[in-house]
Parts: sequence; C-alpha cells; structure tokens
Amino acid sequence: MSAQIESVLQEERIFPVPEAFARQANVSGMAQYEALQAEAEKDNAGFWARLARENLTWIKPFTRSLDESNAPFYKWFEDGELNVSANCLDRHLGTPVENETAIIFEADDGAITRVTYRELYERVCRFASGLKALGYKKGDRAIIYLPMSIQGVVAMQACARLGIIHSVVFGGFSSKSLHERIIDVGATLVVTADEQVRGGRNIPLKAAIDEAFAMGGCEAVRKVIVYQRTGAKVAMESGRDITWDQAIEGQPAECAPEPVSAEHPLFVLYTSGSTGKPKGVQHSSGGFLLQAVMSMKWTFDLKPEDVFWCTADIGWVTGHTYITYGPLACGATEIVFEGIPTWPNSGRFWEMIARHKVTIFYTAPTAIRSLVKAGETSPDHHPRNYDLSSLRLLGSVGEPINPEAWMWYYTNVGGERCPIVDTWWQTETGAHMINPLPGVHALKPGSCAMPLPGIEATIVDETGAEVERGKGGFLVIKKPWPAMIRTIWNDPERFKSSYYPADFQGRYYVAGDGASRDLDGYFWIMGRIDDVLNVSGHRLGTMEIESALVAHDLVAEAAVVGRPDDVTGEAIVAFVVLKGPRPSGAEAKEVATTLRNWVGKEIGPIAKPKEIRFGENLPKTRSGKIMRRLLRNVAKGEEVTQDVSTLENPAILDQLKEAS
Ligand code: PRX
Repeated sequence: MSAQIESVLQEERIFPVPEAFARQANVSGMAQYEALQAEAEKDNAGFWARLARENLTWIKPFTRSLDESNAPFYKWFEDGELNVSANCLDRHLGTPVENETAIIFEADDGAITRVTYRELYERVCRFASGLKALGYKKGDRAIIYLPMSIQGVVAMQACARLGIIHSVVFGGFSSKSLHERIIDVGATLVVTADEQVRGGRNIPLKAAIDEAFAMGGCEAVRKVIVYQRTGAKVAMESGRDITWDQAIEGQPAECAPEPVSAEHPLFVLYTSGSTGKPKGVQHSSGGFLLQAVMSMKWTFDLKPEDVFWCTADIGWVTGHTYITYGPLACGATEIVFEGIPTWPNSGRFWEMIARHKVTIFYTAPTAIRSLVKAGETSPDHHPRNYDLSSLRLLGSVGEPINPEAWMWYYTNVGGERCPIVDTWWQTETGAHMINPLPGVHALKPGSCAMPLPGIEATIVDETGAEVERGKGGFLVIKKPWPAMIRTIWNDPERFKSSYYPADFQGRYYVAGDGASRDLDGYFWIMGRIDDVLNVSGHRLGTMEIESALVAHDLVAEAAVVGRPDDVTGEAIVAFVVLKGPRPSGAEAKEVATTLRNWVGKEIGPIAKPKEIRFGENLPKTRSGKIMRRLLRNVAKGEEVTQDVSTLENPAILDQLKEAS
C-alpha cells in the first residue's frame, strides 16, 4: 500500500474555495466548520440531538439521543416517533414547496414527466393505500425490483409511509440473487415491472422474478405488483400477480403516515462482503434521515432554487440517500433518469444538464472516465459543445477518483468554477462521511478531504494505534453516528465481527478501506483491504464470484482477484481449474464465454469476469492455501519478485501468466 500512497501524496495542486461560493454557502468558511466540529467534539450525542430537533418533523419528540448500552448495537433517538415519508412529503404541504417540481423524470427515449410535491404526495398515498388494502402493514418486508422511475421512488416512499421495510434489488442482479434476497429478508411483497428500458433496449424484470419463484422457497410472498413500463406481455399468476394500476385503482389520495420509532428499520440493502453471502445492511428511520438531510445541506450546499441530479440507481445506497430520501426531505427539485450516459450518444449527461438547468451534479468516477474516452473519440459530444453554465457544484462517489479524471471533470464540466465534492462513504454508513465542504475546504484532486461535522475518522495500524500523518493504515470511525448500519439482517454476529472486530477490542468501526492522511490532515482513500472489489463503483466480493464459478459443472477450483482498469477502476480476473484437462486456443475461449455468462446468470452482468485464465492448478502454499497475492501480480502482468519457494507448485505461475 505504501508505494501507492506516496504516488498520490505527490499531488500538489490545490484549488482554493471560490470566494463567491463561500459567501453564499450553507457552511461558509473554516471558522463555521470548526465551530460545528467543536460543538460535536464537546458533546457528540447532544450535537446530533440538536440537529434532529431542528431538521426533522417528529410525531413524538425523543427524550434521549444516543443509547450505547448494547454497543456496538447503537440506538439513536429511540423513544422518538416519526414517519420518513411524512418528512419527505407531508411537511411541504401548505408551504410554497407544495406546488414546486419534486421530480423531473427523463425516460430513456427522452420523454419528460414532471411531478410536483402535491402530485408526488398523492401518488405515494394512493400506492400506500393500495398496499394497505392488500393487508400489508408495519414491519412487513417488500422486495422492490424496479427500473429508475417515478414508480421506484413512489414504491419506496409508500413502504416508508406504512412502516414496511423495503429491500431494493438493483435491476442488473440476476434471478439467483433475487431469490437469495427474497428469502433472507423474508419478503411477503414484491414490486417489479414488466421490463426496464436502458440504452434503447428492453430488458425483462418480471421474468427474473418468475425464475426466482421457480427456485422454490418464496411461498411467503403473497402479492407481486407489476408496473407496466413497456406493456410487454408477461406471465401473471392469478391470485398472486396484479398490475400497478390494479393496486391503485379506486384508492384514496390520502393515507395517514404510520408513526414509527426512530429505530424502526427503514430498509435493508444487500451489499458484498468478504464471504460469499451478501450482507443485508439494516438502516434506521430517524438517524438515517437526519444525515441524509444534513449532507444535502452541508455537502451539496442545497438551496431552494437548485436542480439536483444524482445519477445513481435506486438499487444502490446512493440512490436511497440522494434520490429517494435526502432531496425530497429537503424539498429539492431533482432529476430521475432512466437511461445510460452513452445513449443515444455520449453527450446525454451534458445535454440533460443543459436542458434541465441542473445546478448540482453527482456522479461516479467510472462514468467520468468512460466519458473522457468518449469525448476524445467523438468530439461532437465533448462537454464543451453544451451549455453547462447552470452548474455550480459537482460531486463524485463510489471509488477513488484519479487526479486526471478529477481535472477533466473540473475543467470540462465544471468550467473551472464549480467545486468538486469527492464524497467517501459506504452502504453501511448511510450518508456522506468524509468529503470537502464546498464553502470551507480547498480541494486537492483525488483526496476526499475532511470528515463531516460530528464524524471522527482516523487511521490506525494492525494494533489499533493511530498512525502518524503520511503513513497508510486502516480507515476507522471512532464514534457512532446516527445514520450508521444497525446490524446485518438475520446475522448480528457477522455485524460485530465485520465492523467492530476483536482485533481492535471493538473500539472502532472498521470501514474495510486502506487510507492515509497528509500533513494538512486530508484523507486519501486507497481502496478496499479485504476481499471486496470495486468495479465501476459496484461492490463485489471475490468469494461470491468464486462460489458462482465453482457451482458450474465444468469447474473444479477458482480464484478471483482484481486488477486496475482505466475505465472501471478495477477489473475482475478469474483463475480457473477445470475438472477436465486444461483447455487452450478456441476451446479455452469458448469455455471462458460459457463461464462468463454463467456468472452473469448467477449474480448479474456486473460480476462477469473481464478475463478468465485456465491452469492445471492454482499457486498454493504447502498447507493448501491459495496465494492470492501472487495471482494479483500475475493478473496485473507484474513480475513476481517474492520468494516462491514455499509454493507447492511454483511452475504453475508460468502457466497462468499466459492469457486465456
Ligand atoms: O472502498 C470505498 C469505495 O466504495 C466502498 C463502499 O461501497 P458501497 O457500499 O457500494 O457504497 C458506494 C457508494 C457510497 C468504500 O468502502 N468508495 C466510496 N466512495 C469513495 C470510495 N473510495 C474512494 N473515494 C470515494 N469517494
């Protein structure tokens, strides 16, 4: 890790806060930031309690902020009651926001639908009333498998309105992944669509649900509600499957919000860890919403006149916090986009920013890197050809942004006028944790700068001791925070061992990332230090992909590693030993394609290995442990300089160096 750290620490460009930005910022200048930090340092629980009272609407006020009695199962504002959907919708009724646009939806084909807060409120109430009429109630679990759509936001908000715990599954996940999640979360309701439309293609969704049901064990699901996005003919099981329109038919546009404890689970979102089984990250209602709101104000400097666009999918945590909940709780106008950045051409994002006069734009480094390339090969769609003057702030999320991509974003998209907030956070953290505040921090390309007020982050070595500035180590969070993960659904022990490991006596939340701090105290994230890969900002466990590979009849053994990739950040490389002889030439290509498609079916297309190499064996120690470190060298095409004499079979490395 240290060589990498040295290379980024050579980054010396610093971009001071533009004065005009600082003057109007919600948090303006270092003194104001330091005052917030000092308040939090003095009394962290009191700091968050003040913000929770000032920024959320409570049905029953809480009397106690943080409960640490059963650490690390922390509780926040537990005896308070609220409703998250009422905080996003009802609170705007009777204010000027009621008739403002909540969502500007742009479909894949460019069709635009605008929904005001009043209309969104009515849509959510109608769908919630429909769910109620079907007998759904607080505490039930719903799987949502929907495309980017107004209906996606409505379904999530309707669940929140009734206290139904939603678990959104990204539309790119396979029926096998769906099956696993339906069962693990104990869903009794599924909301899906006939198809989704992306990049001019129709992709089936309902069919994946049917396949998941055919695998057995989903009998607890009483209803499947199907939003007819394209009107494609899909199988409908009578008694179980109904259309979205049937679910809302005749339902009232009012539905009283169900009061829930601040600790009531708002959602469970599955993400990859270092074992084969995805983790159901459980989030709360009150604490989650509080930080969703605070980060909209602090990080994005949100103002009533802003047009906010987060390009994430609602299937990821970024879509939960910064599409479904944060912007709506703040009464913002936001874009929801169905399509992809490269269709019908690579100017789509820029065209949409110009069309909708977007002021705050939040996307992922992988999208930026792919558009850098596209802008070179197709100069007509370079951002310079579009009017991007409405932009005032840019954001980045999901993976480290390399300084070159940062500079391109800053210059070509932001016109050297818009600060970039590089936001470090995770599914588990619920909201932003470390990022520059645009009216406070000078920017360094590639650094996520400083923790938000109330967040105490640091870097420690294997013993848990804090390391000195400039040295790398484990990124940890010292104090609990309101939006943090509460537990892993059905697996509290795994929650403890994953995030509060005994190695550090349970003192810190361990993020799973390597990082360092420079002499100014700025954080630089190096990436995952566990067996988790980050491909195009999507989290994938190497074990998950290995399990999928060995589940194929042809495969005896598999090891999966990551290697750096110009566009996707990391690319998946799989080393595979077949049960039969090692294939070569055309046969190897054919088997590799078969296995790639297999992984696509088992997990989802995002998990398909970019490269598969076949060997007669894998490099192992004499005790039989696969030497992944060596495989990483081989995948990167690096010379193996380590001593390989402890290997059982050193000759195997030469074989694996040959590409498939
Ligand atoms: O490795 C870090 C990386 O993404 C991981 C979290 O992934 P996920 O739970 O899918 O959430 C992604 C969206 C919040 C982290 O452990 N990561 C996320 N943001 C950044 C980042 N790495 C560097 N810089 C970031 N801004």
